[in-house]
Amino acid sequence: MCGIIGIIGKAGVAPLLLEGLKRLEYRGYDSAGIATLVDSRIERRRAEGRIVNLAARIEKEPIAGQTGIGHTRWATHGIPNEINAHPHASSKVAVVHNGIIENFQALRKELEGFGIHFETDTDTEVIVHLITHYLDEGLTPEAATAKTLHRLEGAFALGVIFANESSLMIGARRGSPLAIGYGDGEMYLGSDALALAPLTSKITYLEEGDWAVLTPTGVTIHDETDAVIERKIEKSAASGALEGKGNYPHFMLKEIFEQPAVIGDTLHALLNPVTRTIVLPDLPFDLAGISRATIIACGTSFYAALVAKYWLEAVAGLAVDVDIASEFRYRNAGMPKGGLAIFISQSGETADTLAALRYAKKQGQHTLALVNVAESSLAREAEASLLTYAGPEIGVASTKAFTTQLTVLACLTIALARARGAIDHADEARLSAALTEVPSRAVEVLNHDERLKGLADDIAGVRDVLYLGRGTSYPIALEGALKLKEISYIHAEGYAAGEMKHGPIALIDEGMPIIVIAPSDPLFEKTASNVQEVIARGGRVIFLSDRTGAERLGRVAAATIELPEVDPFVTPILYAIPVQLLAYHIAVLKGTNVDQPRNLAKSVTVE
Ligand code: M6R
Repeated sequence: MCGIIGIIGKAGVAPLLLEGLKRLEYRGYDSAGIATLVDSRIERRRAEGRIVNLAARIEKEPIAGQTGIGHTRWATHGIPNEINAHPHASSKVAVVHNGIIENFQALRKELEGFGIHFETDTDTEVIVHLITHYLDEGLTPEAATAKTLHRLEGAFALGVIFANESSLMIGARRGSPLAIGYGDGEMYLGSDALALAPLTSKITYLEEGDWAVLTPTGVTIHDETDAVIERKIEKSAASGALEGKGNYPHFMLKEIFEQPAVIGDTLHALLNPVTRTIVLPDLPFDLAGISRATIIACGTSFYAALVAKYWLEAVAGLAVDVDIASEFRYRNAGMPKGGLAIFISQSGETADTLAALRYAKKQGQHTLALVNVAESSLAREAEASLLTYAGPEIGVASTKAFTTQLTVLACLTIALARARGAIDHADEARLSAALTEVPSRAVEVLNHDERLKGLADDIAGVRDVLYLGRGTSYPIALEGALKLKEISYIHAEGYAAGEMKHGPIALIDEGMPIIVIAPSDPLFEKTASNVQEVIARGGRVIFLSDRTGAERLGRVAAATIELPEVDPFVTPILYAIPVQLLAYHIAVLKGTNVDQPRNLAKSVTVE
């Protein structure tokens, strides 16, 4: 994971590097550092923990230099301390790295054989010593770097600066994204266009295997065979403004409360409320000709995929496979011709999802990316893309990205169903109308915030929590459990309600809260029976339903939250909100770092 930035500037670059790192902090926050050239010598400042620690360090010990690189780390090899913080450096070269060098043990052994001493436990340090070794052999910085790149196995985006070369910086990309930015007599490197947004909107995205030689006035790009190659300059739409928390204590809470608006924005792009029809952008393939869909994603985005499976099968009559990207990519899955492979990702940079996309392309699938970042690798590499209009999601726990993904998937379901003749205009109008109601219904759901906060009090002290649901509520149970785990560090599991009696019911006792997601849909009675089974065994049930559901269950649950009565088609979008709020309030009570939970990063760019 990790975020990298590099600047060949006209004045001191330390403040700009720090600003860029703040914008990249979503990629990791275990440690951070910068290196600059001061009087042609490499100088470094590094600090354990978040960028604020690095900023404090630099305030105490300022660092000059007009050329520099910076890094924010999500540790892979070596604990997150200052020694292992990037940039890593010798007296001749400093390197920042995002990715994993898989053959670092062999390279380290080889270099130690030359008497080279290693200071860190990182895989990255081999890159520093290899380049230095080739420089010592008399190669130019460009040739030494190129030779090093050919020796590396694994995934990387790199930024490299050299002592005595204040007008030179090298960037390289294999497996991890890297963008080049063009300024006026300045040049930049960044993990994404967002990092560079305050500096420039003129961007070139490096392709797989590319490496680039930057000087103050331009860039020469080489492909994986070292041949010089042209890559297009694009205009980035990434905003230079840093997202703020407004009056909210955490980004996560702000993002939860933004959902009515961003779901509305997403619908606005895909649904005509007057004709009550779905209007997708032009796609380079015919939806009517799609014989099968495979939906691939990770984490919360995977749970959105799971909801879509239920929708597409039931509404569009389309056979759907869903897969976790990290499993799919190594499964050698057969993908029949005429299939559509859909990739869901907030960031559009998740390494496993990207690898799965490349596999599906080789299998001759049509590919569709569903992303929140329009310029992301996934959007650029897929045949077509659909955008969620969630806006920047800063909290590591995904909230508004999830509900806007569901919103796009609901629209896609209707469009596919119409194209396949599975629904008529009246059906389309009914489903579209249900969707147009979601933003205002979401506001009603948010009105339960205080009540959910009260319930959080009873849950914050427990060790385990179970979430149950059936049909499209099952993925919401999984999502609720994931939210709770990642921000409160309480063990939680999501289960299909009908699976309880096949094992997990043994866990039930008075100490374990069971959150049941049960809108009054066609599966309600089944879930209600499962609830009775749990209660009969002393389980403490928190029941998320609507008035009809609450009445049908009777007064047996320890607590009931009555959500709005809506068409069952849209319940997963709305029922995601209370499980987000519950997790949020529990985490606040536990005093965890809600927006940047331990061990996590927003964007997972390593496999
Ligand atoms: O950017 P992506 O949607 O591809 O990210 C996938 C997962 O890493 C992400 O959803 C993760 O599970 C979230 N932290 C969950 O809240």
